[in-house]
Amino acid sequence: MQKDKRTRLTMSQVMLPYQADSSGKVHLGEILKMMDSTAGATAQRYARSNVVTARVDELKFHSPIFVGALVTCTGTIAFVGKSSMEVIVTVDVEDLEADEPPHRAKTAYFTMVALDRMGRPREVPKLVIETEEEIKNYEEGKKRYESYKLKRKGK
Ligand SMILES: CC(C)(COP(=O)(O)OP(=O)(O)OC[C@H]1O[C@@H](n2cnc3c(N)ncnc32)[C@H](O)[C@@H]1OP(=O)(O)O)[C@@H](O)C(=O)NCCC(=O)NCCS
Repeated sequence: MQKDKRTRLTMSQVMLPYQADSSGKVHLGEILKMMDSTAGATAQRYARSNVVTARVDELKFHSPIFVGALVTCTGTIAFVGKSSMEVIVTVDVEDLEADEPPHRAKTAYFTMVALDRMGRPREVPKLVIETEEEIKNYEEGKKRYESYKLKRKGK
């Protein structure tokens, strides 16, 4: 049996009226909160420590979400630096009464930083990459990490 690498985590929730506007469309903030919680839990479990969100990139809106839909957020550790982790968060939406597969509604890249008990960045375990998908995610995540580093140096 393959050892759990703790790199993927999913969270699901049925959308309720209090989370939506008068037309039944779910507020973006509700989805962002769920995405941030998913990124946080994915990173916290991987690092086995407290984490903080340092950055969110490329938030893409593929389609609106309505009350009654089952929303599933999936967090995947794509890249690991020294203390930072890039978590790809996808949002899939399923109509519970339709005989159709879920569709992708949103995607974003979260940079999470592991913290020690004093709130300082701490080192995280190296990422083991094996599958083609993991290698692709890692290479793309590494490019984004290097470009953030350059931007921060230039600030
Ligand atoms: C994230 C935070 C801990 C980084 O602290 P710092 O003193 O800048 O630490 P460092 O410069 O050593 O950076 C630590 C890591 O974070 C990464 N990082 C920090 N800021 C980043 C940013 N804006 N974008 C991407 N990565 C960032 C660094 O690249 C570094 O990664 P590495 O260790 O893998 O190489 C600090 O900026 C912080 O607490 N920010 C507030 C976070 C917060 O409150 N989030 C909730 C928002 S509502």
